[in-house]
Amino acid sequence: MENTKLWGGRFKESAAKILDTFNASLPFDKKLYLQDILGSKAHSSMLERCGILNKDEKEAIHKGLDTIKEEIQKGTFDFKLSDEDIHMAIESRLTALIGEAGKKLHTARSRNDQVALDFRLFTLEANYKIASLLLELITTLLNLAKEHTTTIMPGMTHLQHAQPVNFGFTMCAYICMFVRDFERLTASHQRNNFSPLGSAALAGTPYTIDRFYTANALGFNAPTLNATDSVSDRDFALDFLYDLSMIGMHISRFAEELVLWSSYEFKFISLSDAYSTGSSIMPQKKNPDVPELLRGKSGRMYGNLFRLLTVLKGLPLAYNKDTQEDKEAVFDSFENMEICLQILNDLVKTMQIHKENMKKACQKGHLCATDLADFLVSHCKIPFREAHHITGKAVGYAESVGKDLSELSAEELCKVDSIIPKEAHLSLSLENSMNSRNSYGGTSTKSTLAQIESLEAWLNLAKITHQKNQRKMEF
Ligand code: ARG
Repeated sequence: MENTKLWGGRFKESAAKILDTFNASLPFDKKLYLQDILGSKAHSSMLERCGILNKDEKEAIHKGLDTIKEEIQKGTFDFKLSDEDIHMAIESRLTALIGEAGKKLHTARSRNDQVALDFRLFTLEANYKIASLLLELITTLLNLAKEHTTTIMPGMTHLQHAQPVNFGFTMCAYICMFVRDFERLTASHQRNNFSPLGSAALAGTPYTIDRFYTANALGFNAPTLNATDSVSDRDFALDFLYDLSMIGMHISRFAEELVLWSSYEFKFISLSDAYSTGSSIMPQKKNPDVPELLRGKSGRMYGNLFRLLTVLKGLPLAYNKDTQEDKEAVFDSFENMEICLQILNDLVKTMQIHKENMKKACQKGHLCATDLADFLVSHCKIPFREAHHITGKAVGYAESVGKDLSELSAEELCKVDSIIPKEAHLSLSLENSMNSRNSYGGTSTKSTLAQIESLEAWLNLAKITHQKNQRKMEF
């Protein structure tokens, strides 16, 4: 039986039936239909400008592509697995719709540069959407930080009470992570915004084409430099998967705090009912399934990054079919990250903050111990090591009488060591302690406000840079 595939000319027999499923990417790469249509429009406009297609042919192609877009969006397009992928599905339909001109579209192009283009466009647009969501999340967290620059909570190391900090300062720590994530996405966008179209199979094309025209028309900075690299390169996808893995890791750290803070042991926050779930057996339960899922999603992000790194390892130049395995990893990470960021943003906006419980928690764990040591250093002029030792004795005494260090009276403190002056206990208030850490980047209310100011200035600039990355296409 004759082979009826678009590439079937040299074959005497048709391919094994099972290959329809194994070889095909159509079930998942149909997501790239818009990018494929845009790429074909830019390509055919360029072919016309270079005298390879005439005006009628180009116009027929554009019209045909518009019809196909409509069919796909209305759900009437007949996706046939035998077409293998979205590129051939669209090309066959185009030829069926407009005849001869449809067959000319693939001049000076290969599926290798076509898929490299479609997938790159998709990934860069996905990058832009995630970056937009990050800016929204950063805005929400900044608003929260501004409200809580005097809300005292225990700062922790090793998940043990360490020193009093304010809640706004803690939010700023997470904002700093998301700021770096945004900048990482912007850098990936800059690095990869180059068009592979016109690289053809691997070596370029004998036709006199204009790759600068298509690059510009599709909103790229310029065409890629080397045709062989362009058809085999998937670094842009790896960059994106790594960027998403980092965001996933940051979200999982924040989500872990939300799980802890909403437990009875902490009760620093309550999640709104809209973002909590119940138990099928324990009627009293209000479970933090949502932050738990946010925490768990990082596994998927890392998995997808590793999946693609492994697919690409050891591939010789240039295009290899292995790379067909690239798309689902990116689709999966992108779609999950999109929903994670939307949910996290809403969850933060709707959660309640229990200031009193945060403050109460500070009354345990001798949070002001470092302040006593610092006081002894500055007032009694003794070395920090010695002050540390004396404060350790004071903590030991407080534990033995079942009190927090901050609850000891001046007399009790003086009894611990005669070098401790009477006024030392005044240094043990939480507010004093928090506000004494006024160094650049410290937790004092003043320093936190300065951080918020810097972050706001960053945000205003970032919005402008981001706007510039929005893809503009014209052809
Ligand atoms: N479906 C293919 C992919 O996703 C498109 C490129 C096919 N090229 C080829 N020479 N077989 O990679």
